[in-house]
Amino acid sequence: MRKKIVVGNWKMNNTIAESIELATEIAEKVGTGIICCEVGIAPTFLALHEVGKVIEWSDIRLSAQNCHYENDGAFTGEVSARMLQSAGCSYVILGHSERRQFFGESSAIVNRKVKKALAEGLKVILCVGETLQEREAGITESVITGQVVEGLDGVSDISNVVIAYEPVWAIGTGKTATSAQAEEVHASIRATVAGLYDATAADHLRIQYGGSVKPSNAVELFSMPNIDGGLIGGASLNAEDFMAIIKAAC
Ligand code: 13P
Repeated sequence: MRKKIVVGNWKMNNTIAESIELATEIAEKVGTGIICCEVGIAPTFLALHEVGKVIEWSDIRLSAQNCHYENDGAFTGEVSARMLQSAGCSYVILGHSERRQFFGESSAIVNRKVKKALAEGLKVILCVGETLQEREAGITESVITGQVVEGLDGVSDISNVVIAYEPVWAIGTGKTATSAQAEEVHASIRATVAGLYDATAADHLRIQYGGSVKPSNAVELFSMPNIDGGLIGGASLNAEDFMAIIKAAC
């Protein structure tokens, strides 16, 4: 039985003080002893260390939203996986469509990041997703398969990898994939992973759905056989909504 995982991706929102306030509120709600699902929050880099201290006593895991593929060196403005480790992170989100779309991250770059983050002992949330154009052109499955295969190239052990399926057209748009649309892609990702690794690895892999998940649609999405939780954007900025989504995974 896979343990579901719900992670709040705060994106570029909240100052350090606001992040501490929100994290404190969420930690009070989540507390300890949540056994039905794993919970994480991904604040801005700047707030990671402080937020880590605030949530330390709770079951919430600290996640970053990105990292570089080298540990150190002349890469102005970048943050490495090793630095994230030292800030208290256990997870890092990689290959988010906003990174791919706005910052030119190719699957090859995402793959380098995945390998470095895993080597540094971080768990990785590898994001994949098709654009509206790709969905309308009927190439969703091949796009997603390509992103999964390239993202995991050279990764021999995927026990520390979570995949997040986030259709680009559903992110921040209020348009959610139907549970059937999401389930179809999740099942195909699992089949791809079974082909790349084996049936056991595929069976253990957690695949989150992301894209306009809200308290009102989370129960239905999370009840699908291949949907193992969610990567939550907008709704994770409100402690009550985020908690309601966590409860939907239980
Ligand atoms: P929204 O929940 O705001 O659509 O964002 C989803 C997302 O991109 C999470 O990484």
